[in-house]
Amino acid sequence: PVIYLKDYTAPKFQIDSIALRFDLEAESTRVTSLLKVRRHPDFPEATQLQLDGHESLELVGLRLNGQVPDSSLVRRQGEQLLLDPVPEVFDLEIETRLYPAENTALEGLYLSDDMYCTQCEAEGFRRITFYPDRPDVMSVFSTTLVADKARFPILLSNGNPVEQGDLDGGRHWVTWQDPFPKPAYLFALVAGDLSCLEDHFITASGRRVALQIYAERKDLEKLEHAMTALKNAMRWDEQVYGREYDLDIYMIVAVDFFNMGAMENKGLNIFNTACVLAHPRTTTDAGFQRVESVVAHEYFHNWSGNRVTCRDWFQLSLKEGFTVFRDQSFSADMHSAPVQRVDEVAILRTAQFAEDAGPMAHPVRPASFIEISNFYTLTVYEKGAAVVRMLHTLLGAETFRKGTDLYFDRHDGQAVTTDDFVKAMEDVSGRDLTQFKRWYSQAGTPRLEVTDEYDAVAQRYLLTVRQSCPPTPEQSEKVPFHLPLSVGLLRADGQPFILATGQTTQLLEVTQAEQTFCFDGIDEQPLPSLLRDFSAPVKLSYAYTQQQLRFLLQHDEDGFNRWDAGQQLSMRLVQQLIESFQRGEALALPKDYIDTWKALLQNASEDPAMSALLLTLPSEAYISENAAVIDPVAIHHVRQFMRKTLAEALESSWLRVYQQHDGEQAYSPEAAEIARRSLRNTCLGYLMALDSPAHLALAQQQFETSDNMTDQFAALVSVAHSGFRDSADDILTEFLNQWQHESLVMNQWLMVQSTDPRPGALSRVKQLLEHPVYDSRNPNKIRAVIAAFCQQNAVNFHAEDASGYRFLADHILLLDKQNPQIAARLLTPLTRWRRYAPARQAQMQAQLQRIIDTGNLSGDVYEVVSKSLK
Ligand code: ARG
Ligand code: ZN
Repeated sequence: PVIYLKDYTAPKFQIDSIALRFDLEAESTRVTSLLKVRRHPDFPEATQLQLDGHESLELVGLRLNGQVPDSSLVRRQGEQLLLDPVPEVFDLEIETRLYPAENTALEGLYLSDDMYCTQCEAEGFRRITFYPDRPDVMSVFSTTLVADKARFPILLSNGNPVEQGDLDGGRHWVTWQDPFPKPAYLFALVAGDLSCLEDHFITASGRRVALQIYAERKDLEKLEHAMTALKNAMRWDEQVYGREYDLDIYMIVAVDFFNMGAMENKGLNIFNTACVLAHPRTTTDAGFQRVESVVAHEYFHNWSGNRVTCRDWFQLSLKEGFTVFRDQSFSADMHSAPVQRVDEVAILRTAQFAEDAGPMAHPVRPASFIEISNFYTLTVYEKGAAVVRMLHTLLGAETFRKGTDLYFDRHDGQAVTTDDFVKAMEDVSGRDLTQFKRWYSQAGTPRLEVTDEYDAVAQRYLLTVRQSCPPTPEQSEKVPFHLPLSVGLLRADGQPFILATGQTTQLLEVTQAEQTFCFDGIDEQPLPSLLRDFSAPVKLSYAYTQQQLRFLLQHDEDGFNRWDAGQQLSMRLVQQLIESFQRGEALALPKDYIDTWKALLQNASEDPAMSALLLTLPSEAYISENAAVIDPVAIHHVRQFMRKTLAEALESSWLRVYQQHDGEQAYSPEAAEIARRSLRNTCLGYLMALDSPAHLALAQQQFETSDNMTDQFAALVSVAHSGFRDSADDILTEFLNQWQHESLVMNQWLMVQSTDPRPGALSRVKQLLEHPVYDSRNPNKIRAVIAAFCQQNAVNFHAEDASGYRFLADHILLLDKQNPQIAARLLTPLTRWRRYAPARQAQMQAQLQRIIDTGNLSGDVYEVVSKSLK
C-alpha cells in the first residue's frame, strides 16, 4: 500500500504515559505495556483507537481498565490492532511475546552477539508492542528490564535509572524513567555484559552530565576517540547553536549487528561498532573522522530530532538534513573547511545526483512511499543538508542562528514539519521563502547554464544564468528554484576584483528561469569563479577554456573551486579519452596536462591535505554520473591509463614527495599528520601503478613497519590491487593472520578483495562468502563483500556475461527473507539500468524482473524493484 503525505491526519488519541516491562527470558521475551490513553480534545466523536503492530507480533493479553474486553471490540487488521469503542480516558495493558534470537531483520528487539538491543526508527517499535507507532504521538516512557544478572549485568534504557533490585533465580531488574515526552521511534534498551568508558561534561549552565560509552570488554581501549568527539560536540552545540544537553546521563552503546550507522535514541544512542570504535592500530584516519562525525551527528539530534521531532515520516529531512548540516559544520570547524567541503560535495555530486537521475528520485520531502526505510536516502540526508546550507547562505550566519533559536523555542516538545522550519527562518528574516520551499517538493538536480558578456567601454560585466530541471518520476514539469549563487571575478594577474559589496565574493540570488546579473566598474575582462564553495546543489556549466581552468586552479581564492577547476580539467580529458578508447585508438595524455600535475606536485607541501585531493583523479562514480551512456569498461581503463601515465611521467616527483613526507615520530591523529599521511599514500598509489619491483619493496616496507592502520592499509591496497599476484596473495594472508580477531579490520580485508578491479573478482568474492570471517547475518560483512563488489568494482560487476547482475539478484532474494532493509539497499546498482547501453540494460532489467516474478517480496524490495521497472 502506498502512503501519501496529502492523507495525513492528526492522531485522535494521545498517550499520557507508557510503562514498559521486559522480561528477558532464555527463549523469548515477555513485554507488558501499560498505556494511559486520552482522547484528543479536537476529536470528541472518535471512538476507535488504532494501534500499530507488526503482523508477526504475538499478542498474549489485553486489558482495558483492568478488564479483558469483549472480543467483538478488538480487531486485528493488517499492521493494526483496532479497539472500538473505547472511552475518553482509560488504561490499556498489553502483553506481547517476542523472539529476539530469531529477529534477523534487526528492527525492534534483537540480539547482537550476546547482547539485547533495539532499533525502532522508523517503525521498529511495532515489532515490540502494539502502540501508535507514529512520531506525532509523544509520551513519557518508563522501562523496567528484568534479566539474568550474570549474563546481562548491564541493563539500560532511556533517561535516568530510578530503581533497581535483585530477584530469585539469579535475576535482577532496573527501572529507567525518561522525563522528556518522545515518540516511540526514540525508545531503546540494551542488556548485556558490557564494559564502559566513563567521563563527564559540565554544561554551560554548570550542570554535570555523566558520559558513558559501552562496548565489549575487548574493545574498551577503542573508545577514547568517541569520548573526545562527544565532548567536543557538546561544547560546539552550546557555542554555535546555544543548545545544552538536558539529561544527567548520556550513553552510547557499540553493537556489531546494525543496519545503519547509528541511532539517536534519547539518552541512549546505539551505534554500529564501525562508527564508534577507533584505535590508531586498527582504524584508518578516514575511520577516525567518521567516528567523530557520527558521534556528533547523533548528539546533535538531541535538539534537532528529539526535543523537536518530525510530525510524520515525510518530514524526515527536517531532522536529518538539518542534523547533517550541523555535523558538517562541526567537522569543518574541527578540520580543514575546504577539504571537508570537497568530501561532502563529492558524495552529493556522485551518489545523490545519481539518485536524482534514477527511478527512486524523490523530493527532500517525499510525497508518497511504500516503505519508509527506503527513504533514508542521500536525497533526504545530503541534499536535505544542502537545502539547510542554502538557507544559511541566503540569510547569513547571524539571521540563520536567530531562526534556529526561534525554531527550537517555538517547537520545543513538538512534532513539526519542514514548513515550520522555513517559517521560523521567514519570521526572523522578514523574507518570503515561498519559492525557496520548492527545494523540499521538487525532485531532480537543477541545471544552471551560465554565459557572460564584457563591455570594456561601459566597464560592465554581465552574467546570464538559465536554470532548468529535468523531469523525475511523477514530476514532468518543474518551476524555477530560488538559489544562492556565490561568485567571484578574477583579474588577468590572478587578483580578485573587489565587488559592489566591498568583498571579493558576491551572492547572487537566482529565482527566474533566465536572469542577468550586472557588475559595474569592472575595468578589465574578468574570469568568473562560479558557485563558490558549492553554494547550491546544482550542475553548473560555463564554457571555460582549458587555459581558464588551469588559471582558476592556480589562482582562485575559493579552495573548493580551485579543486573543482582541477576536476573539470581532468573530466574534459576523461571524456575525450573514453571516446578514443571506444574507437579503439591509442591513448595519450597532452603535455600541458602533465605539466599541470607536475606543478601541483611541486607545491604539494604547502597544503598537503588539499594537494592529496587535487592529485586525485575524478572517481569512476563521478565519471559515470556525468556520462551520457555509462561504459564501465572504458571508464575503468581510461582512469587506469591516466593514473599510470601520470605515474610514469612524474615518477621521480611522486617518489620525492613520498619520501619528503615520511613521518619521523610515532603516529599522531593531529590534522597536520593526517594530511601528511594522505598525501604520502596518494603518492604511493601512483608509484604502485607502475608495477615496478622497487616500488613494491617500498610498499611492502611501509606495510611491515607502519605503526598505524592508515599507512598499513594504504600499503595493503596498493599491493593487493597491483600486478604482483604472489605478493598480493602474501600480503593479504599476512594481514589476515595479523588481524583475524579484529572484526572491523576484517571488514577492510574483505573490502580490499571485493573491490579488486583485476579480472576474476566475482569468483574471489564467492570464495570470501565462504570464509570463516564472513557472517551472512552481519550487515557490515554484507556491505564489505556484496555491496562493495557491486558498487565499488564496476568493471567486474558489469561483466559482459551478466554474472555480476545474477550474483546480486541471487543474494537479494536470499537476503530479503532475512533482512529486507539491507536487501533493498543492495538493489541500488541494478536500479540504474537506464544509464547503460542497450545490452546491459536488458540484462539488468532481466534480473529485476526475475526478482519481482519470485513474488512474496518484502515491501522494501518490492517498492524499489517495481519503481525501477516502471
Ligand atoms: N536516525 C538515524 C540517523 O541518521 C538513522 C536511523 C535509520 N533507520 C532506518 N531504519 N533506516 O542518525
Ligand atoms: Zn540522523
